[in-house]
Order: sequence, then structure tokens, then C-alpha cells
Amino acid sequence: MKRGSRAHWGTRLGFILAASGSAIGLGNIWKFPYITGIHGGGIFVFIYLFCIAVIGLPVLLSEFIVGRAGQKNAVESFEQLEGGKTAWSTVGWMGVFTAFLLLSFYAVVAGWILHYTGQAITGAFSSGHDAEAIKNMLGALLGDGHYQTMLNGGFLILTMGIVMMGIKGGIEKASDILMPMLFGILLLLFLYSFTLEGNGKALEFLFSPKFDQLTPQGVLEAMGHAFFTLSVGAGVMITYGSYLGKKERMMKSAVQIALLDTLIALLAGVVIFSIVFSFDLQANGGPTLIFSTLPTLFVQMQGGGILSIAFFVLLTFAALTSAISMLETVVSYFVDHTNLGRKPVTLLIGFFAFLVGLLSDYSYNKLSDFKIPVQFLFGEELVFFDLFDKIVSNLMLPLGGLLVSIYVGWKLDRKMLQNEFSAEERKYLPLLILTLKYVCPILVGIVFLYGLDFTRPIFTMLGLVK
Ligand code: TRP
Repeated sequence: MKRGSRAHWGTRLGFILAASGSAIGLGNIWKFPYITGIHGGGIFVFIYLFCIAVIGLPVLLSEFIVGRAGQKNAVESFEQLEGGKTAWSTVGWMGVFTAFLLLSFYAVVAGWILHYTGQAITGAFSSGHDAEAIKNMLGALLGDGHYQTMLNGGFLILTMGIVMMGIKGGIEKASDILMPMLFGILLLLFLYSFTLEGNGKALEFLFSPKFDQLTPQGVLEAMGHAFFTLSVGAGVMITYGSYLGKKERMMKSAVQIALLDTLIALLAGVVIFSIVFSFDLQANGGPTLIFSTLPTLFVQMQGGGILSIAFFVLLTFAALTSAISMLETVVSYFVDHTNLGRKPVTLLIGFFAFLVGLLSDYSYNKLSDFKIPVQFLFGEELVFFDLFDKIVSNLMLPLGGLLVSIYVGWKLDRKMLQNEFSAEERKYLPLLILTLKYVCPILVGIVFLYGLDFTRPIFTMLGLVK
């Protein structure tokens, strides 16, 4: 690619699929169901939907605006908009750093998914297999650092392979293929879930909110997850927005992407809880829900073998298109800033992500005693994997989102902002600005403070947490 000629998405659908591919990931299929299970089902879903609409969507739209108007990577888009060097580009810098750190451990979890996919394909979860052995599978996997390193590396190679091929020929093409397959598999699983005994219970659990189960922790968790699931706060959507042409309807696209992301999370929730409730199991299994609970159920089900393949292939696709967006955000910056070209930059960044990822690969085995004393921040000592996760999810993403909403709400030139919307969409602009100026910064600020341990006394005093 020549200097000055920025790559663009080939079609509008391609952009929607790529951005949804980023948004739809482990957050939707792994995390959303298990945190919903922990926080009481319907009431959590209800709050989550509210958070998506009130904070997730406006911040997503803000990121698209910065990228589309700036036509540069996450850092330089701010410079472009401000007409020169500006402190706001720090937001972009933080984003690039966050996307990189996130990639380093996201690829480790994706590696576990690869292992489970392999197991599913070789029939390990077909009916009749020993459920006890499967229960131990996750422990064995976490105990084996070398194996995780291999899986992690394999997954990163897949990710790099696609990013290397560029925007239109790589990311967009991969999304065009993987996303429809993901929708198809999930739809089949969803339809199948209606034949399960637990389906009614699952629907009730997810969609009839019990307001007495409402907890402040649940609300805070829902706000934080609204960020993670829409891929905002790390410059990813700025980067994807920068590959958009001038004609695009920003508001419509952002709404469609948020809706798709939410729909997928809900469908995944129905599938997973239909299985769980068919066996009278508790919904609050936590993070091991899909790695331990589900596989032990697959072996007890008719057709569980096929089901397990569909499920883990689905997860692999979801993880891949998300990891691509993280890598692309970092690559985009360095491609613009060096003369190296896309392929070498991708290889280098991917390799560095692999190196940093080693700390996560070995977090639950060789390095499990190596805990970083971060009590003042997070209340306990943490192994690398957990530390990275907390830094990204609790601090960097809310901070990034907070700053982007402040930037677009308070700082961005009004004329430029208006230019980003069609005449028809402009009538929503006052509402958007109001939300970005006050609602998002306050709510996201609370999420950010809640993520820090030393603010806990304030929350306790206000009676928000025990
Ligand atoms: N949204 C993805 C998920 O739900 C994860 C993700 C991809 C992400 N890119 C991101 C999260 C950027 C935060 C920032 O799994």
C-alpha cells in the first residue's frame, strides 16, 4: 500500500461483519452466560441491555466517529482531528497498548478453545465417555504450560495470517466467511435447544427478571461487560472506523452492530442454559461453565458429540475474528509509523504478543507462585494472567471509553461532528451529545473507580457493596 492511500472496506456489509466479528467473541459466548448465571439471570440481562443502549452504543459510535473523521490509526486520528500534536493522542496510545495486552492473553484462552475443539472433533465429548475424566480436562490443560504455549502460538499464527492479508483481502474476507458460519451454527444450536427439556427453564431464567435479585455488583459488572462485549475502549473501533468511506451512515451501523452483538449473546445464553437446566444443574458455575460443566453434559446427551463440535467451532470463529481486531489495531499504528510494511509489522507484533503471552501460558503452572503484589489496586496478589485481565478489563477499557466519550462530547469540533451524520440522523445528535457529555462519563467513571480496590470503602459506605 502506498503512503497516503489508506485501505478501505470493500462493502458496507463487509464492515458490519468485521466490526461485529470484533464485538462478538469470547465475551458473548463464554463470559456473558457465566456472569449472567452468577448475577441472577433475567435481572442481569435487563440491566445489561440498558447498559448497552446507554453507555456501550454511544461510546461505540464515538470511536467510529473519531476513526472515520480522522482517517488514521487510533493515535493519529486524534492528531488529524485536532490539527496537530495533541494530548488526546494519549488516548490512542493507551488504546494500542491495551489492544496489545488484551491480545496477549485473549490468545491464550483462544488456545484452550482450540484444544477443546480438537477434543470435540476426535470424539472426546461423544455420548458414553467418562464425565469424570472430562471434568479434569481443564485442570490438566492449565497445568501444562508448554502445551498452552503451543496452542497460543498456533492461534496467533492463524490471526497473523489473516491480518497480513490486509483489510479487504484479509480481515473483510475472513469476516465474510466466518461470521455467516458463526450465525448459522448458533442458529442451529438455538433451534436444537428448543427440543431440550431445560429450554423453558432457560428462557424463564434469562427473560423474566426477578427484581429482588438486583445487586449493585451485578449492575457494575453489567456496565463493565457492556464495554468489553462491544470492543470499545481500546482503539479497535477507531481503527475499524478509519477504514470507512465518507458516505457511511454511522449511527445506523453502530446500532446494527450493537444489536447483532446482543442478539448473539442472548442466543448463546439460551443454548447454554437449556443444556445446563436439562440436567438440573446450577447456573452459577462461573468461568468454568463452558470448559467443564458443558463438556460433562455433552457426553450425557444424545448427539452430544456433534453438538460439542458445533459449539467449540463456533467459539473458535468468535475468538478469531476478535483477536484479529486487536492485532489490527496495533499493526495499523506501526504500519503508518515505520517503513516496514504490513507483513513484517504483523509478524513482529504477533511475535511480541506471543512473548508476553508466555507469562499467561505459565500463570497456572510454572509461574503459579509468582504473584504480583497489586493489593492496593485489586485487593489481592495476582498471577500474570489475572493481572493482565484486571488491568485491561477493570482499568484500561473503562478509562479509554471514558476519555473517548469526553473527547467527542466536549472537545470535538461541532461542525466535524455534524458532518459525520446524515441529515436524518442529525436529529438524534443533541441526545447523543448529552449522553456523551454527562451520562457516559459518570457511569463509566463509576465502573472505573469500582475496579480499584482502594475505592472500596466509598462503595461500602454508600451501601453499594458489602
Ligand atoms: N468484544 C470481544 C469479545 O466480546 C473482545 C474484544 C475484541 C475486545 N476487541 C476488543 C474487547 C477491544 C475490548 C476491546 O470477546
